[in-house]
Amino acid sequence: MDRHRSLRMTLLLAAGAAGCSSAKSRDIAVVTLAEPQATADDAGAADDPAAPAPRPQRSAGWMQEADGTVHRASTVRCDATIAQRACAGTERSFQCRTDADCTQGPRGKCVSSFGQIGPYCGCEYACETDAECGPSEVCVCKGTGALREEHSVCAKALCAVDADCPGSTCGLSAYFNGCWEQVTLACRTKDDACQSDADCASDANPGVACVVPDIEGESARWECAGISCAIGRPLVVEGAPRAAPRAPRDDWRAPAAPTELDVASLPPEVRERAAAHYAAVAALEHASIASFARFSLQLLALGAPAALVGEAHRAALDELEHARLAYDIASRLAGRAIGPGPLLEAATAPVGAGVAEVVEALVEEGCVGETLGAAEGRELSRIAADPALAAALERIAADEERHAALSWRALSWMLAAFGEPARAAAERAFSRAAARFAVDPAPGLLAHEALGLLPAHALGALRREVLAEVVAPCRAALPGLSRDNAPAAPSSSPRGAST
Ligand SMILES: [Fe+2]
Ligand SMILES: [Fe+2]
Repeated sequence: MDRHRSLRMTLLLAAGAAGCSSAKSRDIAVVTLAEPQATADDAGAADDPAAPAPRPQRSAGWMQEADGTVHRASTVRCDATIAQRACAGTERSFQCRTDADCTQGPRGKCVSSFGQIGPYCGCEYACETDAECGPSEVCVCKGTGALREEHSVCAKALCAVDADCPGSTCGLSAYFNGCWEQVTLACRTKDDACQSDADCASDANPGVACVVPDIEGESARWECAGISCAIGRPLVVEGAPRAAPRAPRDDWRAPAAPTELDVASLPPEVRERAAAHYAAVAALEHASIASFARFSLQLLALGAPAALVGEAHRAALDELEHARLAYDIASRLAGRAIGPGPLLEAATAPVGAGVAEVVEALVEEGCVGETLGAAEGRELSRIAADPALAAALERIAADEERHAALSWRALSWMLAAFGEPARAAAERAFSRAAARFAVDPAPGLLAHEALGLLPAHALGALRREVLAEVVAPCRAALPGLSRDNAPAAPSSSPRGAST
């Protein structure tokens, strides 16, 4: 059975074509994830592996214990070198042109990077001491523990050194959620959900680590967390998706769902991980409001038809409801109110209305991201056991399908209005997206089909299937666009999927 036929026909109509058959299977480039960085020499490999945690009494600076946890015994001077290549001036978008433009932090350097919007120039800031960082921040040295940042960075800190944590340690959390890295220092306590990565390891979720996923107000808790960043239309700033931190508030929850989530029957650990997943989903839906606000400004700047501008505004309101639904699910699972803190990037994100820039973001975030989001939402609503959860996921999937259709309509208009620059940008973006989804995502923090959480291998297979059977034929239906780099369809359906 061709289970993506309805979605394909909807999007083909949006793109201005109908009746196309699905794409043939093809080979595509395979991308691999970066290797984890090595532990810093000065992070202090444990002198005595048998030494008991949690409070070692030795040495200074960053300390790494035998169980892999990293904490700060005392302040230390960091290497403030930024080794990234300087901005060349040939990149596609620019937050800065020279180091003199980077004035928001210490030792600003304008470097060349590559993100979801292609090559760009952005400011990077490295620190040498805490004094160079803001209030409630400390300088985390390059290479410490699991830190992925390529240079020393200022990080939010609820403690600065072990002495701030009576009877415990001031731990370093470097949490990469699949979209961005959040670096935090916080005291470890006996009430934390985990004490080290070993407490989180399981065969089903090998990518999960013991980290601080979020700071709520002035408190933080160490929890098991993994890749939680969901697909959809992200707010991309300087090449990386941005989202608001969590805040303890209940005014961002949907008013009422048809039935109550049956959370009482779930083990506490499952509830906790599912709550963390849906809180991350909610934060990305919340960021999508800003993304559509920016998109509507870009459409106005490019002289788009009224219908497209109107649809972009309606889509922003849909995303607001998605955020409320997801915050409500997260709050019920957690047993406490969870909502968004300030999303500062909503005000500081550059609008950027160059044709190539807008087309590339439209293809990656809309034509690919929202199309995959619609298909994933349908699949998750089908497997979710709870009626309220299934209804929420179904509502989100229906909206995402409309958003995907808007993206294909907008791309069709931009190709007609701007010609070759738009066509070349679209080809580049489709190729990048195909490579990005060629491999399975890293494991999430929980695979639990009844709660609408697919395992990574099933998600990867579903995405490749949709890319081959929906995205590729829609792309080929647009004038001037090729079918190159269409991904291969998987040989089997994802677990739990209908056939
Ligand atoms: Fe959404
Ligand atoms: Fe959306």
